[in-house]
Amino acid sequence: MDKKIVLGITGGIAAYKGAELTRLLVKEGFTVQVVMTEAAKSFIMPLTFSTLTGRPVYHTLFGGPHQSSTLHIDLARDPHLIVVAPATANIIGKAANGIADDLLSTVLLAVRLEKYPVILAAAMNTAMLHNPAVRQNMSLLRRRGFIIADPLAGELACGEVGEGRMAEPEQLLSLIKRTLAKRDDYGGVSVLVTAGPTREPLDPVRFFSNHSSGRMGYALARAAKERGAKVYLVSGPTSLEPPAGVEFYAVATAQEMYDVTLTLFPEADVVIKTAAVADYRPASASAHKLKKGEELQLRLVHSPDILQELGKRKKKQFLVGFAAETADLLISARSKLEQKNLDIIVANDVMQEGAGFEKETNIVQLLYRDGGAEELPLMSKAELSHEILDRIKACRQH
Ligand code: C5P
Repeated sequence: MDKKIVLGITGGIAAYKGAELTRLLVKEGFTVQVVMTEAAKSFIMPLTFSTLTGRPVYHTLFGGPHQSSTLHIDLARDPHLIVVAPATANIIGKAANGIADDLLSTVLLAVRLEKYPVILAAAMNTAMLHNPAVRQNMSLLRRRGFIIADPLAGELACGEVGEGRMAEPEQLLSLIKRTLAKRDDYGGVSVLVTAGPTREPLDPVRFFSNHSSGRMGYALARAAKERGAKVYLVSGPTSLEPPAGVEFYAVATAQEMYDVTLTLFPEADVVIKTAAVADYRPASASAHKLKKGEELQLRLVHSPDILQELGKRKKKQFLVGFAAETADLLISARSKLEQKNLDIIVANDVMQEGAGFEKETNIVQLLYRDGGAEELPLMSKAELSHEILDRIKACRQH
């Protein structure tokens, strides 16, 4: 494999595992360019890495032997992937906050996530890992498109037992290979994702809505973008930042989501409808705030079923629906798949621990048009997105 990887090593005890990762990458045929921080050199010698890679190791921003003054830009210009292993709380904090005070942090500020992936293999003490500042930095980086390899639980160098150990070099190697293999497998494919709740107004200050956070849809949009798709994200109101590089449409009501989605539909090859669209809306919205008074009777009318309409109009499009249920999961999901003319329905029991709205994880079953079904284990919404995209790709190839 003739691919160039920039490998950052920071100052944690897991730096020695960075040497093992280097060995594995070189053995796989990667060209590995190592960049070390000052603190990393207290744990392991640059000579170890230059011997393993057969290349000089860079550690200063300016003035190294035979070093260009724009080395940070050169390193970030055309790698196939950048990985930092171990990534300490410090480098994660710098990357999240735009601080560039040494070579590696400057390279991380010059990255082009739309061109290549960046993996940060977090490693630190459990208390640091659970510090709100670190958690916030990690989730900010994830939202921006960095891939964070979560640390594992086990014995830590400080003598404590807990979460914080860097993922093993073999695991990182397979994550790197998987990430590179998935890069661009959606090149030339247009993916339309709907996400979040809708809001159905009752009066100018009140609305009907639901608990959807939009996380599943945003994770799918990000994953499709990472894999080279042209992505349209139509979203109801959420607190999330749209992933970089997607074409974003903010909507509020089911009717607005219907209008935008149907306009974009002819452009789409794959449509994934994670949005929790309101099934009913108030028959009329008052122009003024309703005053407190006598008992109020509300009449609700159906809002348009977007997916049903897409199912009727579909030509080349591959349609994926989501079914959040609290009872009779598989029977309801199967009947929705048939009724709405879908190719896959992703069913989840939102009463189950670890599944559903407002969570970072999900547990789902996939039901296929041909009658097949598949149960997936508990996983993060980011991982699940890639699993779903893998299945869609396989079905479309048949
Ligand atoms: O029928 P139900 O609402 O459970 O179906 C869920 C699927 O249908 C989801 O994919 C959802 O995005 C979609 N849907 C829709 N328009 C509606 C209701 C649901 O597109 N009005």
